[in-house]
Amino acid sequence: MALISLKGIKKTYRLGQTDVPALLGVDLEIEAGEFTVVMGPSGSGKTTLLNIIGLLDRADPGGSFKLDGEELAGRDFNEMASLRNRKIGFIFQSFNLIPVLNVRENIEFPCLLRKEDRAGLDRRVELLAEEVGLTKVLHHRPDELSGGQRQRVAIARALVTQPEIVLADEPTANLDSATSEQILQLMERLNASRGVTFLFSTHDPRIMKRAKRVVLMADGKLVDGTAAAHAETHASSGLDHS
Ligand SMILES: Nc1ncnc2c1ncn2[C@@H]1O[C@H](COP(=O)(O)OP(=O)(O)OP(=O)(O)O)[C@@H](O)[C@H]1O
Ligand SMILES: [Mg+2]
Repeated sequence: MALISLKGIKKTYRLGQTDVPALLGVDLEIEAGEFTVVMGPSGSGKTTLLNIIGLLDRADPGGSFKLDGEELAGRDFNEMASLRNRKIGFIFQSFNLIPVLNVRENIEFPCLLRKEDRAGLDRRVELLAEEVGLTKVLHHRPDELSGGQRQRVAIARALVTQPEIVLADEPTANLDSATSEQILQLMERLNASRGVTFLFSTHDPRIMKRAKRVVLMADGKLVDGTAAAHAETHASSGLDHS
């Protein structure tokens, strides 16, 4: 059974009097342990898709969205929030750390939100910090860290609740290329060592080339594999059409 299964997922935003179609019927399956990248030009619907999978937003009625075989279409926002807290980890382009909390407190924050028992939490945070290379800065605040270190905090924070899937919308967009490379390696390592399932959106050809699977979007739809291979050829020649 796929971890995530989308069938006929549509999303239309309402902007004043106008309807903005963002997803026109997406079918997608993601298995546990995958390292998948969603590529596509600006406006093709990548963020919309990730927001729906991440239970941050709801698709239009009619489609089917299963997580672990459980149908989630039609759930209310409270149920979505509770499922999101338990099952989804997020990594954002702009890190979204809490400025007044230090690294340790930022990483453990999702566990406190879930009112988890503190027993074992310190150790869990320390192990994660070690794995992402933050042991020496656990007491620093985000404004005392480099961009790469901030994204490492965000990665540790996404993993601390042991989510079923980690979603990352353009995780390296605010990082220089050397730092992006390190962050990418880190996520690949976590995918291999912990079996963490990752789903990214990106414009970054380097991420796309390394992904085990590329899903290409255009105009609110998934485009077939041939088109993805075509895009890869362009990406590896350094072109970016978005
Ligand atoms: N909150 C919103 N209200 C109205 N329209 C929206 C909203 N969010 C996105 N859209 C529209 O939906 C479509 C898909 O947008 P989306 O942000 O998902 O694209 P994207 O692929 O993530 O683009 P980018 O690469 O620029 O991040 C676009 O036409 C966009 O203008
Ligand atoms: Mg986007």
